[in-house]
Amino acid sequence: MKVAGQAMRSIWLEPDGAGVGIIDQTRLPFELRMLRLITVDEAAHAIRAMLVRGAPLIGATAAYGMALAMRADPGDAAIARAAETLLATRPTAVNLRWAVEDLRTLLKQLPAERRAEAAYRRAGEIAEADVATNRAIAAHGVPLIRQALARKAGKAVHILTHCNAGWLATVDWGTALAPIYLAHDEGVPVHVWVDETRPRNQGASLTAWELGQHGVPHTVIADNAGGHLMQRGQVDLCIVGTDRTTATGDVANKIGTYLKALAARDNGVPFYVALPSPTIDWTLADGRTIPIEERSADELAEIAGRLASGEVARVRVIPDGSPAANYVFDVTPAKYVTALITERGVCPASRDGLLSLFPERKATRPG
Ligand code: MRU
Repeated sequence: MKVAGQAMRSIWLEPDGAGVGIIDQTRLPFELRMLRLITVDEAAHAIRAMLVRGAPLIGATAAYGMALAMRADPGDAAIARAAETLLATRPTAVNLRWAVEDLRTLLKQLPAERRAEAAYRRAGEIAEADVATNRAIAAHGVPLIRQALARKAGKAVHILTHCNAGWLATVDWGTALAPIYLAHDEGVPVHVWVDETRPRNQGASLTAWELGQHGVPHTVIADNAGGHLMQRGQVDLCIVGTDRTTATGDVANKIGTYLKALAARDNGVPFYVALPSPTIDWTLADGRTIPIEERSADELAEIAGRLASGEVARVRVIPDGSPAANYVFDVTPAKYVTALITERGVCPASRDGLLSLFPERKATRPG
């Protein structure tokens, strides 16, 4: 999508065909800093420290991480070591496992001298496929926004989103934000309520920044404001992303998503989840078995911001000595999800719904 009028992606192969370019998302919204990854350890660090984040971008970065590993050493042990290093970075987004296993399977079939080139090619294909997938999600999601528009006699459609499921969380377009970008580009009047998304503020820092850069009207709200707005009829629909969706339609996403889904149900607000198919974990039947990441309590105890001087600083916001717990994702049961928006269309959040779009998965029995 656009940054200062220029098209931009979140990850790219550098012109030398070796290094991998990323945006350091920990610097946004105050600084647009690009970084060059050149080793698998740098790719793993970028994922773990959340320089890159969002389920599809984690997957694409991991794929390039495997390629960086093969560039340094195309041996069998290096494949295993790279896969292990990358898989250990973050536990919830299943796109990571999907991408690493895809590369591992491919590379093991090849002689060592062909592995690096094949890995770069496959990582590039994964990145391109993500863009096409998200563009398809956009096309399938726009009619849902237009339906809301029809009920509003031409007034702006108010859409609430949580965390960042925009282009920064993918290679381009985003998932939850993809239909919003396309609707906006087609002239549909949209306005986005952006949950700040404590503790790391992906909504306030990233979603607000990318919507602003693309010119989409939006308002940042405190995480706890969504229920109030829904009660007042000020939210027409919710669209969120997901890090892992079970074969039965339960949805893991950024902590706080579940509470928004409950508020949406209580107020009759449609609650949609947008996802590319690599985010579906066909092996799981129950969202309660999805591993939920816990991160450092420091992320909760401190907050980053720009001082009046222009300096970006971290400040502590809880008392010294108070313990803090930082649960990063939660699970919204399928019964609260109005529908899933995938690259193949919109379906009920259920096993039958997902299989109606992905019939080739009928043989996979979730445990
Ligand atoms: O911890 P993060 O920032 O990686 O969490 C991101 C989310 O929760 C997104 O909603 C999810 O990955 C979907 S991204 C298209």
